[in-house]
Amino acid sequence: MKRETVIVIDFGGQYNQLVARRVRECNVYCEIYSYKTDLSEIKKKNPKGIILTGGPNSCYEDGAPSCTQELFELGIPVLGLCYGAQLMMHVLGGTVEKAPVREYGKTELLIDASKEDESHSNVSEIFQNVTSPTICWMSHFDYISRPAPGFCVTAHTADCPVAAAENKEKNLYAIQFHPEVLHTVEGTKMLSNFVLKICGCAGDWKMDTFVESTIKAIREKVGKGRVLCALSGGVDSSVAAVLLSKAVGEQLTCVFVDHGLLRKNEGDEVEEVFGSNGNYDLNFIRVNAQERFYTKLAGVTEPEKKRKIIGEEFIRVFEEEAKKIGAVDFLVQGTIYPDVVESGLGGESAVIKSHHNVGGLPDYVDFKEIIEPLRDLFKDEVRKAGLELGIPNHLVFRQPFPGPGLGIRIIGEVTEEKVRIVQDADAIYREEIAKAGLDKKIDQYFAALTNMRSVGVMGDERTYDYAVALRAVRTVDFMTAESVEVPYEVLGGVMNRIINEVRGVNRVFYDLTSKPPGTIEME
Ligand code: XMP
Repeated sequence: MKRETVIVIDFGGQYNQLVARRVRECNVYCEIYSYKTDLSEIKKKNPKGIILTGGPNSCYEDGAPSCTQELFELGIPVLGLCYGAQLMMHVLGGTVEKAPVREYGKTELLIDASKEDESHSNVSEIFQNVTSPTICWMSHFDYISRPAPGFCVTAHTADCPVAAAENKEKNLYAIQFHPEVLHTVEGTKMLSNFVLKICGCAGDWKMDTFVESTIKAIREKVGKGRVLCALSGGVDSSVAAVLLSKAVGEQLTCVFVDHGLLRKNEGDEVEEVFGSNGNYDLNFIRVNAQERFYTKLAGVTEPEKKRKIIGEEFIRVFEEEAKKIGAVDFLVQGTIYPDVVESGLGGESAVIKSHHNVGGLPDYVDFKEIIEPLRDLFKDEVRKAGLELGIPNHLVFRQPFPGPGLGIRIIGEVTEEKVRIVQDADAIYREEIAKAGLDKKIDQYFAALTNMRSVGVMGDERTYDYAVALRAVRTVDFMTAESVEVPYEVLGGVMNRIINEVRGVNRVFYDLTSKPPGTIEME
């Protein structure tokens, strides 16, 4: 099946992935490429439309990211956003300069009627069904002081005379603000007008078709081959495993390494879903390697060293299991699209991924090829695919959990006893948050074990026990985060239960730190 594709050309803006996600929300498939990508590569993709993102530079400065005039002469509709809009004007003969007033934040946008029509019905196709005035999100130092020849202004703000302009005949559209940011109240409508009306996309990129065509493609690729998958129980590896299982059934073997640093009962939950009594046709191997990990971690307190030990041990265990299975033809990886973009293969983002799932690639597993069935999907799309495949909700909507697991939620040395404490405290915290109806509203929350012991009193007895820290953060990208204001009575309830039910704890703290300066995890 030939996929309708819109291409996002990335000029280094912070919202590049967001643009692609919004396009996909219109059920149109979308890929991100760096502005350095050769035009011939873009043409080969045969895109229905092209979107130029924002970026931090000034387009009139030497060495600023640019594009050729040819890009605007392909006959493919082009939408420039912020820097992309300015660049379009600059390349086509308009003027861009430092704005007398810097606009930042929510700004009132007035949509202009075309000159011939004073009744306001004849507005730009981009703004069809958008109210005027409406609120848009602005963030720019430069502005378009004179549109390129052939362009007319289609919207303005108090400080920005050219908030949008277009050359309808050539299908070129420039928007100074950011429709991809949700603060632009009707931004999604504008992007949908571009991709569906102007580019003429059908909008038939849906998860059921993705699932169906991916299963078919995997079957063709794998043939009678054998496939190996490292299953962590996280949403990405679970969805990848189920896709493979539906495609090739028992040709797939999933190895699940329980490193003893999972949340309470998590190992059993994964086994319940994927094991022999579970719902899927596959070979499931659970390796109970708890003791091995605890032994390796004994006496180790330095965070990076702990991470390294856990990562390396994970690979060793996985390799040992793989050797028992013998040579396989394919190894499954749960890579998703943001990983591709962040690793520098897609857009223009710097390589920012400092940590990844435990392991990386095992060195000594005998396989011929890697299969990455989720490589084109964003996280929310992986979840939709998971639901489509009938994976239980608690796995599909599992909050992010780091590869090194509780190892980085226990400050200092990891022991079996401390793992038990943090597992029990965390289970209570999660239960109470869910009971308060907050579980879908907080992006990540967990209990951690500080390495601190302090004096307390319980039933007239002196105690000298550990302090548990509770954390809850709101975040979009996990690169920055704010602590969430969990209602005091919920925190109080959690504190009471932890003190009463978890042996070895006599104090509970709430972590107020945002990121930066803190990180989300403790180590
Ligand atoms: P930090 O602690 O860096 O965490 O603010 C940001 C997000 O990444 C997760 N995290 C990890 N995920 N392997 C992972 O797969 C890791 O080593 C790792 N360290 C942190 C963390 O849970 C949060 O969502």
